Amino acid sequence: MNIIDIITKKKNNEVLTDEEIKFVITNYLNDNIKDYQMSSLLMAIVLNGMNEYEIDSLTKYMLESGDRIDLSPLGTKVADKHSTGGVGDKTTLIVSPLVASCGVKVAKMSGHGLGHTGGTIDKLEAIPGFNTNLSEEEFLNQVKNIGLSIITSSKNLVPADKKIYALRDVTGTVESPALIASSIMSKKIASGSHNLVLDIKVGSGALIKDLKTAEELANIMIKIGKKNNMNIICLLTNMDIPLGNNIGNILEVEEAIAILTNKKDGPLQKLCITIATYMVSLGLNISYEEAEKQVLDNLKTGKAYTKFLEFIKAQHGDLSKMVKNAQVYQVKTNKQGYLTNIDAYKLGRLSMELGAGRENKEDTIDYSAGIIVNKKINDYLNVGDVVYTIYTNKDINNLNFDIFTLSNEPINAPQLIHEIIK
Ligand code: URA
Repeated sequence: MNIIDIITKKKNNEVLTDEEIKFVITNYLNDNIKDYQMSSLLMAIVLNGMNEYEIDSLTKYMLESGDRIDLSPLGTKVADKHSTGGVGDKTTLIVSPLVASCGVKVAKMSGHGLGHTGGTIDKLEAIPGFNTNLSEEEFLNQVKNIGLSIITSSKNLVPADKKIYALRDVTGTVESPALIASSIMSKKIASGSHNLVLDIKVGSGALIKDLKTAEELANIMIKIGKKNNMNIICLLTNMDIPLGNNIGNILEVEEAIAILTNKKDGPLQKLCITIATYMVSLGLNISYEEAEKQVLDNLKTGKAYTKFLEFIKAQHGDLSKMVKNAQVYQVKTNKQGYLTNIDAYKLGRLSMELGAGRENKEDTIDYSAGIIVNKKINDYLNVGDVVYTIYTNKDINNLNFDIFTLSNEPINAPQLIHEIIK
């Protein structure tokens, strides 16, 4: 077997065998297959796709490349959520304590952000003292004691994905349903997920731009999940506009707290309630309606916020020390009309340029940096109205703030949840 024959097969749109996929993963991990060869194969996969059996093999050998977390000492099946990434997506910060407060354990591994999308671990690390690097024993003990822990995934959790994802990121080979599904699902299986709610983001600020591809991805992930004894539900949700108003790490923690303390409602709150309800319904094996009642009660009575504070304290975070040290600027409009678009991708890029995200893995983050969107779709704006508030320590002179559209007529309100696939 050799890599050139395998690349040629995929280039000719042929099906790879289980042995060939095993050969690729093991030999790429031990450096026998070079980055340039792997890039070529990945591009052929992006262009020609993979069938169900190829995706199963890819997921299996990615999974076998590293350790699996054993959550059985918890004595219960945990609930997990995963978002395919977007702009202003702080749902994990809200949903996890909400679900844990309903008696469903959440033992979650998350990642850092890259490019225009944020990562849960960066948001948590914006809280001074918060430790995202617990040992497996500390992690399990915390979940046992308070029902919730979120940590950064260990080096040996699907190392094949770490290596391949880094290569995909710089070779234009991220956007393939087969590659995304095997990447996400191998990590979810390795981290012990049983009850999983997947939030597949669709739109300009997401990896997946169209609903048809999102449906394809959802169906692939559901099949993989079911074959691995998972209960799994996919939500296809809007990422043409950002989720909530705040983008940037401290700003997003602040918005999460506003939701958990009932100071704010709107689409972010609605999506969090829906995700949490599905997680509680799966975790407790109860109906959606029963789960929703518990979720709404725990949000309203402050039980979810109490759980959030307990979780932050358990991982040594100190919210009283979380302060924004940044210059504040207001971006005003010099036109008038209905706000009909706030492009999520461009806002995500701008937020990164302000210091809130990383262009490259090695870049450091300014936790104070980011954007608050002060208006919502279909608001009528007059000349001089503030559209965004910018927080940054960078020079803003060369940045482009003209990333919203005003029109003479309002538009149909954007749909938050496009579809739910089970
Ligand atoms: N997130 C992942 O973990 N993997 C992908 O391939 C895409 C998004």
